[in-house]
Amino acid sequence: MKVYTASLLGIDGFLVEVEADLSRGLPDFRIIGLADTTIKESSERIRAALKNLGYPLPARRITVSLSPADLRKEGAWFDLPIITVLLSHFLSRPMEKRLLLAGEVSLYGEVKPIRGALPMAEIARREGLDGVVLPRGNAEEASLLQGVPVYAVDNVQEIIAYLQGEALAPVQRREMETKPDYELDMGEVAGQRVAKRAVEIAVAGGHNMAMVGPPGAGKTMIAQRIPTVFPPMERREIEEVTKIYSVAGLVKNSYITLRPFRSPHHSISPVGLIGGGRYPRPGEISLAHRGVLFMDEFTEFQKQALEGLRQPLEEGRVVVTRAGYSVEFPSDFMLVAAMNRCEDRYGGLEVYECSPAERKRYYSKLSRPLVDRIDLWIEVPRVEIGDILRKGDFPRESEFMRERIIKAREIQKRRFQGRGYLTNSRMGSKDIKKFCPIPPEGEDFLKTAGEKLGFSARSIARVLKLARTIADLEGQEKIKLTHLMEAVNYRRVERIIW
Ligand SMILES: Nc1ncnc2c1ncn2[C@@H]1O[C@H](COP(=O)(O)OP(=O)(O)O)[C@@H](O)[C@H]1O
Ligand SMILES: [Mg+2]
Repeated sequence: MKVYTASLLGIDGFLVEVEADLSRGLPDFRIIGLADTTIKESSERIRAALKNLGYPLPARRITVSLSPADLRKEGAWFDLPIITVLLSHFLSRPMEKRLLLAGEVSLYGEVKPIRGALPMAEIARREGLDGVVLPRGNAEEASLLQGVPVYAVDNVQEIIAYLQGEALAPVQRREMETKPDYELDMGEVAGQRVAKRAVEIAVAGGHNMAMVGPPGAGKTMIAQRIPTVFPPMERREIEEVTKIYSVAGLVKNSYITLRPFRSPHHSISPVGLIGGGRYPRPGEISLAHRGVLFMDEFTEFQKQALEGLRQPLEEGRVVVTRAGYSVEFPSDFMLVAAMNRCEDRYGGLEVYECSPAERKRYYSKLSRPLVDRIDLWIEVPRVEIGDILRKGDFPRESEFMRERIIKAREIQKRRFQGRGYLTNSRMGSKDIKKFCPIPPEGEDFLKTAGEKLGFSARSIARVLKLARTIADLEGQEKIKLTHLMEAVNYRRVERIIW
């Protein structure tokens, strides 16, 4: 007698076979096969639940084995498959279908929701099983996946009834809603032409951006509206993002169809931001996958959290290493940082200017490599009251921005054919050589500007990528001097920091 379940690794996992053996000998109940303590602990719960259901463990030597035996397994959802395989023995009813089961079971036999239901359904589909049995609370999330029947149970009695010949009721499949519907619009932000232009360029080319300005300038307001100018998520992106939320236990009944916007507080721990933990969970950078990670008061985050951003920003994924194994989560997000000016610490008086030492202290947590990964730096001044009152001057601005962005992204899709969701910001040096030739009139300009602003070789490369995006927004095949000039402009604020 055999049932199936799964163990998760990141947003994927592997199929686990659960078998039970009852033999004569000293009464004993053990779970073998590299089961983690979370599974071992469930043996007492399983014993109690079975007793309360009227099926106490017989005085035999009972061994539940999990295979493959050489892969470490963890999860509270092993309760349900283990109970099922035991009941199948007690009732002498073999499982007719090849089912993947997952669920945490209470002492009284209620089946409680788990995390990772969606990846589990995917594993069942991949392995060609006949279906997946999940807690009712997770069924809807898993049923959005096509190609594998999903059954929901509320309690173990339903499993007993199934083993005695009753059919499991499949969950109704739902159509995936992919049309995004945002309540916010960039048009609600009065003025701020520079910031909006920067947003357009940043989203078009997949660049990160930073806004520096006094409190009340509208930085948060702008950031919250950035997801509305992205192209709508494609089906593949939706599935990927929803899987991350499923593993984090954050799916509420539907696929995630809106671009994520995450805005963690600056007090967040490095693990909370980057991901990890004893049982590795996705961090905020993965919850922001394919969307926006807004880091307000950027200078106030823990140094270790900020440094942890570097690798994921480079690679679009994060690898969490544990003793003996490592887990990977996707983390391809757009970083939007916001911070006050140094001066704002001293009341934001116009007459006050920070000394280089004060500046150095204020921006001390922002390392050169981190700053280098943010292509656009802009100052966001306060908007005049009159401008704010004269609102409603540009309804549906997000839609117009989005249309231009989609065009620029289509150019990149053709440019980087077959390379996934690659955007200009992630071009390697070969790509830069090929796609970003410096125009003759741009060479002198770059040299002079670079010297004045203290550009490194890396800064130059980033300027070229940014110029590439600006040219793409204009539909220009060649980068021109004006594109370079605008790109350099966005790296000027970097000087505030050094
Ligand atoms: N450009 C603007 N257009 C419309 N309202 C604005 C603008 N800038 C600021 N506001 C108003 O001021 C409030 C504070 O702005 P906020 O985005 O929180 O500023 P910041 O994050 O820079 O401190 C906003 O909620 C909004 O009501
Ligand atoms: Mg704010």
